[in-house]
Amino acid sequence: MLTNDQIKKANQHYVLQPWSKQAKRNPKIITDSEGIYFWDENNKKFYDMNAQLVYANLGHKHPKIIEAFNQFKELEISAPGFASESKAKLAQKIVDLAPNNMAKVYFTTAGAEANEQALKMAKAITGGYKIFSRYRSYHGSTLGAGNLTGESRRLGSEPSPPGFVKFDMPYLYREYQNFEDEKALSAQYLTRLERQITSEGPDTIAALVIETIPGSNGVLLPPDGYIKGIEKLCRRYNIMMICDEVMSGFGRSGEWFACDHYDVQPDMITFAKGVTGGYLPLGGVILSKELSTYYDDNVFLSGATYSGHTLVCEIGNVAIESYEDMDLIKHVKQMEIVMNERLEKLRVYKYVGDVRNKGLFGAVELVKNKQTKEPLIEYGTAQGNDKQGYMRAFSQLLLDEGFYTFAHESHVLVTPPLTITAVEINAAMDLFENALVRFEEQFPKMNEGYPAHL
Ligand SMILES: Cc1ncc(COP(=O)(O)O)c(C=O)c1O
Repeated sequence: MLTNDQIKKANQHYVLQPWSKQAKRNPKIITDSEGIYFWDENNKKFYDMNAQLVYANLGHKHPKIIEAFNQFKELEISAPGFASESKAKLAQKIVDLAPNNMAKVYFTTAGAEANEQALKMAKAITGGYKIFSRYRSYHGSTLGAGNLTGESRRLGSEPSPPGFVKFDMPYLYREYQNFEDEKALSAQYLTRLERQITSEGPDTIAALVIETIPGSNGVLLPPDGYIKGIEKLCRRYNIMMICDEVMSGFGRSGEWFACDHYDVQPDMITFAKGVTGGYLPLGGVILSKELSTYYDDNVFLSGATYSGHTLVCEIGNVAIESYEDMDLIKHVKQMEIVMNERLEKLRVYKYVGDVRNKGLFGAVELVKNKQTKEPLIEYGTAQGNDKQGYMRAFSQLLLDEGFYTFAHESHVLVTPPLTITAVEINAAMDLFENALVRFEEQFPKMNEGYPAHL
C-alpha cells in the first residue's frame, strides 16, 4: 500500500488533472468519509457541501450501496446487445420517475456523453442541424457538449462544429433591462429567442438544449413562465426540447427532475451524477414516447461498449431504492426551508451579492461592491475551474473552516448530499459565515486592484 506521500507524488507525476495548470496542483486525498463528511490525509474533517461534484446525493458510504457491492460475487457481465435484469429494471424505474410522456432510456457512462447522444438523436430525427443552447450554461467537455456549453469552459472545445447557436438567458440578479415582474421578463427573453429562431430558420434547427436550472454557473433560477415559454416555442417551431438534468436531476432541486417544477414535457432529458449517488459512472438520455416510436423502424445509429453495464445499472437500482426508502424528495423539500433561512442570513455580509436555492441546489454570488454589483471575478475570465484572485482566497478560507465546495468565477455552490440534516446544515453554514467574517477582515477594501500575492 502506498503512503499518503507516495500517493501525492505519483498523482502529481502521472495523472493529468482536469481544468487546471498541473504544476501547482496539490490535491488532497480523501482518507475516510461518512454521510456528509470526509477526512483528508491530515485527518482534517470537511463538510462535503458540494457532494463531491454534485453527485454524492446519498452521502458517503451509504450502507445499502456498500452492502450491494459486497454481494457482487457471481456477477454476470453482458455486452449492450444483451437484455439484463438490472438494465431493464433501471430503465423502467427512470421512465416511471420522469415526466409521463417519457418512454425509453439510452444509457451512457457520463453526462457529456448523454448530451452528445441527445444531439445526434435530435439531428437524426428532425433532419435539422442547428442546436440552440444558452450562455452561462455548462454541458460537458467533449466536442459536442463542450460546444453546447455557453461559458468560458467551452473555449477548449472550439472551434465548434457547424450549427451551434447561443442565446441569452434571464438572470434576475443581474438583469440589465427594466421589467415589471418575472413573467414580463420571461416574455422579453422569449420574444427575443423567437426572433432568433425565425432568423436562423426553424427548419434548420434540430434542438434547443437547456440546463433546466443552470448549476455550476451559479444556480440561475428561471423566472416565472420562462421554461414553459421555451417549451411552447419548441412546439410552435417543431424543435426538440432537451433538458440537461445532469446536475439538477435525481432530487437535487426537490423534485426527481427540475423540469417537474415547471409543468413541461421535454422531448429528451439527459442525466448522470445522482442516478447512482455517484458510486459508479452512469448517465443517459430519457426519450419521449414519440421519439422512442421513431426508433421502432429506424436504426439507432449509436452504441458504446459500456452502455447499460450490468454492475453499474445494479448500483443505479440500489441507489434509486435508497432515495425511495429514505423518502429523499420529501426530505429535500423540508431541508430547503432550513437552507433558505441560512442563505438569506448571508445577505448582511459585505461581499454577498445574491443567494439562490431550490431544494438543496444553492449558490452564493460574491461581489466586490453591493451597490454596483461589480462581480468578484469578471464573467468569462475563468481558465477552466482555476480559481482566480479573491475567489481563490475565499475558497481557501472555506477550506480552512472545513467547508468543502465548488466555486466558479463569482459563485460558490452549496449543494450537499441530499441526506443532510437540519443540524448539519446549520453547522455547515456557521462555517460559511466564519469564512465570510474572515474574508471581510482580510480584505476590508476591494476596489484597488488585486493584491500582488493573489
Ligand atoms: C449540467 C451538466 N451537464 C453535463 C455535465 C457533464 O457531465 P460529465 O462530467 O459526467 O460528463 C455536467 C457536469 O458537471 C453538468 O453539470
